[in-house]
Amino acid sequence: MKPYVIKGIFQPGSDKYAERELIKFGVKNFTKNENFFEFVGHPKLLVKLNCKSRIFSGFEIKLMEGKARFAKDLQKLISQVKWSDFLTTQKIKIKADSFRSKLYHEGKIKEIVEKTLSGIYDNEATGNTEQKISVRIVENRGTISIDSSGEHLHKRGFAVLKEKAPLRETIASAMISEIYARDDIDHIIDPMCGSGTILSEALAMTYDLNIGKYRGFSFQNWASFPERNIHCFDEPSEKNNRKLKVTGFDIDVKSVLDSRENLSVFNESDYRIEKKDFFDISEIPDSSVILTNPPYGKRIMRTGDAVKIYKKLSDLASKGVKVGFLIPAAMKSKININVKPVFTFYNGNIKTDFLTFNL
Ligand SMILES: C[S@@+](CC[C@H](N)C(=O)[O-])C[C@H]1O[C@@H](n2cnc3c(N)ncnc32)[C@H](O)[C@@H]1O
Repeated sequence: MKPYVIKGIFQPGSDKYAERELIKFGVKNFTKNENFFEFVGHPKLLVKLNCKSRIFSGFEIKLMEGKARFAKDLQKLISQVKWSDFLTTQKIKIKADSFRSKLYHEGKIKEIVEKTLSGIYDNEATGNTEQKISVRIVENRGTISIDSSGEHLHKRGFAVLKEKAPLRETIASAMISEIYARDDIDHIIDPMCGSGTILSEALAMTYDLNIGKYRGFSFQNWASFPERNIHCFDEPSEKNNRKLKVTGFDIDVKSVLDSRENLSVFNESDYRIEKKDFFDISEIPDSSVILTNPPYGKRIMRTGDAVKIYKKLSDLASKGVKVGFLIPAAMKSKININVKPVFTFYNGNIKTDFLTFNL
């Protein structure tokens, strides 16, 4: 079996953590692009990455690459793919991107692909699964890729209850990666935990949780995929001596209940979630870190109230407490914080920084 050329797609801002993950999974040679890494790997690696990655949002495999200056070139590329290895009865969803190319109209590119595919793949779309295919044309060279993940990988399949403005699990994991290797920290506190994403991701990392136990992937529907039926979804978790405890607080009872439900896949002794106002928290043990995603954005909180929360976080930091939090870049000037972000990303359309103190 020939290895695949795999594209690991990540949210811009989390590239440092995505790269570390690839190295951890034994990938030695990779090239980095704007929002994906490209590398060569066998099907088993593809499965493992889908099941165990905490940072990547999805993995595609590259099926064909070549000239795509005119419609006929693109048709030729599509016809060269051995679709019978992948497609059975899935509904097809095509994503097209074009940069600096003669074929520039993405709707038109999709149309060409759909038409060409319908002549090759006798798909009556009877199945209830979807298969994403992506076509990317850069400077008149086209790449045809097929998605192996299905739903975005931040959807872990567990911890499914979500409160207002939940954080993407992949970003929560990037935040946790910053403190994970530190042996002076054994406890994560999220004082505004919402649905508990930071806490569930921290425990998922300590347990090396395999999301293949909780959700499906597109590669499971591929017609001939050697790893489709192996027991990789039961792959044992890595022996992990790193044990973190987590504590969550929230002022809102529903968030507390949702977080408890979301964390119930873990051992009860590893977590504690209580209703509490952040302004009533005083004692922070030395071996703890506060990691949090405070409320911001007009939709959920008045700016003045958000400022008070950020001021208290920054006061705690000035007293020596280990703190890491997300903050909209525009809010930084309001509370006079001027530290270099650990990473920056777009939370929806809000430019957001992750800042850490005493870490
Ligand atoms: C942006 S949400 C956190 C989302 C969370 N990271 C998640 O993924 O679900 C902010 C949370 O802060 C809580 N909150 C607002 N003011 C608070 C306060 N004074 N004390 C504790 N929690 C508060 C809100 O109820 C909300 O659940």
